[in-house]
Amino acid sequence: MKALVTGAAGFVGSTLSERLIAQGWEVVGVDAFSDYYAPALKRENLRNLARNPRFTLVEADLMEVDLTPLLASTNVIFHQAGQPGVRKSWGTDFAQYTRANIQVTQKLLEAAKASPNLQRFVYASSSSVYGDAESYPTSESLRPAPMSPYGVTKLAAEHLCTLYAKNYDVPTTSLRYFTVYGPRQRPDMAFTRFLHAANTGGTISIYGDGEQIRDFTYIDDIVEANVRAATMPTPNGAVMNVCGGSSVSVNQVLQTIEQITQRSLNVEYHDTVPGDVRRTGGDNSLIANLLEWSPETSVAAGLAHQWEWVRASSTTGRI
Ligand code: UGA
Repeated sequence: MKALVTGAAGFVGSTLSERLIAQGWEVVGVDAFSDYYAPALKRENLRNLARNPRFTLVEADLMEVDLTPLLASTNVIFHQAGQPGVRKSWGTDFAQYTRANIQVTQKLLEAAKASPNLQRFVYASSSSVYGDAESYPTSESLRPAPMSPYGVTKLAAEHLCTLYAKNYDVPTTSLRYFTVYGPRQRPDMAFTRFLHAANTGGTISIYGDGEQIRDFTYIDDIVEANVRAATMPTPNGAVMNVCGGSSVSVNQVLQTIEQITQRSLNVEYHDTVPGDVRRTGGDNSLIANLLEWSPETSVAAGLAHQWEWVRASSTTGRI
């Protein structure tokens, strides 16, 4: 099987690419190495893949590149690329979000229409499409109502996937990721920041009172959901939650970090940030039924893995 992984140098894209290579796939990875965070970290993510003859890196902006030759022999597109960051998507930055999240997805879908060997187009959607949901655990049938401009762009792109499936039979599946964490998590995200501060004695800034709740999801569970979405039969245009299965507050996370690291944390509480929702919590039953998927890693176990990674990375100056 041959995959095109967009955003292949990122947190999810690089981990997914490694898993596909380990399973015998050929992978073409596209990445623009944008500067939302240090491109050197993305190069580091690709360190193992770069040595593998079944992995090819195309360093390009998806809006600029000619997709036709890239997709000629592709069986599965894993569309992980995008402009991330819930809290940064306001103001003039919004243009980057519409371009990277909506326009790029539309361009890929147009190319996918004419792609002769395509069997599946897996789109990395987001729990941010829900905003503060009407009920918990939130099922896919509830009306999405994003709270951030970022969430609006992820939802728009998800709708594009569904309507290309309905109108043109593009075999799309959208996976709504709930706050992904684990080794290689982006440096702007909570767990990497908190663990880095634990390691260096730095100060942790909490947005609000720390009682906000997330359905944190471990990276290997996200990768497993992608592989299943690519290889198991699903209805074209399907949309599924992929969530860790536990609702944990940020304050509870801090306690767990103190237990794992055996260090006391310096924590400061600040104002809430526009765009942040109070709670996420997904209903996993659709993906359990369609893909026989369920989360395997608890927050405590996943945080311990991420702690090992943070410590190893900091000794080599990598984060
Ligand atoms: C994450 C990703 O960043 C988004 O790209 C993704 O789409 C989203 O998950 C999702 O699930 O849809 P977020 O939940 O904000 O967004 O993830 P974190 O950055 O790990 O933040 C988790 C919580 O910790 C948030 O409530 C945030 O306000 C809080 N936080 C984060 C802090 O209190 N301090 C920090 O320094 C960072």
